[in-house]
Amino acid sequence: MKKVILDVDTGIDDALGIVLAVKSGRLNIQAITTVCGNVSLEQATLNTCKIMDLLEYPDIRVYKGADAPLVRKHYDEKRIHGEDGMGGALKNAEARTAPSAGFAPDIMINLAKQHPGELTLICTGPLTNLAHALLKCPELPRYVKEVIFMGGVIHGPGNVTPVAEYNMYADPEAARIVFHAGFGRLTQVGLDVTRKALLTAEDVAQMADPQLRAFVQESTADYTRRYEARYGVRACALHDPLAVGVAIEPSLVQTSSLYVDIETSSRLCDGQTVGDVQNRLGHPSNMAVCEAVNSRAFLDLFVREVGKTTLS
Ligand code: BDR
Ligand code: CA
Repeated sequence: MKKVILDVDTGIDDALGIVLAVKSGRLNIQAITTVCGNVSLEQATLNTCKIMDLLEYPDIRVYKGADAPLVRKHYDEKRIHGEDGMGGALKNAEARTAPSAGFAPDIMINLAKQHPGELTLICTGPLTNLAHALLKCPELPRYVKEVIFMGGVIHGPGNVTPVAEYNMYADPEAARIVFHAGFGRLTQVGLDVTRKALLTAEDVAQMADPQLRAFVQESTADYTRRYEARYGVRACALHDPLAVGVAIEPSLVQTSSLYVDIETSSRLCDGQTVGDVQNRLGHPSNMAVCEAVNSRAFLDLFVREVGKTTLS
């Protein structure tokens, strides 16, 4: 089974990604690391711990990472995820799980060295923790099997600025370090495909596990309303769960090999991921960009695994 680290800024869809990863039983989760992004590091960590509680203490450790982007001020996404980052779901729950001692970037380095060539990093927040790990250990790509990150967009508009997706916009300097680090396999799961992974109320109604169904309904209620207000479709975009889905079942997406860079010094375009689709710059490809997704197959996987009544 794939050994993975989930690096999250929990967030509604990060929470759903964690649930999918754990409940699927198809990933060997070595650790969950947290980063500041949608909400503060403390809140993202607390939310992650509450998700561990909801899943009834799977034996997975949570480690805190960076509490700010590399060089910029923290730009949160509370307008999307709510004050607490989970749309008010589990707001009154006391966390029973506590984070473990250790700094997330160090945990990434240690686990990669313990399992050379075996570890997949699934990053669903700003790439700050991974950038810190690379700054400390530039040879990290030699030890890592694959990085799958949710972030950016190649062919369409952004979701924070006209051109930038949130995870990239929040810490573009970190993303730039990751893009140019020399990972053998770096997979971008961007808005090109995540905007097609739309969960509807009908899908949620199919979930057999009443506790998880209630959590999905509650956490996504406002998020779904906001999506409808902007895009005219009553649905919840499963950005981060799709990155987890790609780790579980790579055939869900079609990719193309591209050279991608990110803008970090522009008045209008900071955080834009620029794919050199015509190879104008003449650089070799540095990532596999997800271009198409079998949305129905992914949603079926999500509903089946998150909705099932047992942890397998
Ligand atoms: C990404 O930004 C956050 O709001 C979500 O958690 C997701 O990781 C989508 O642009
Ligand atoms: Ca996220």
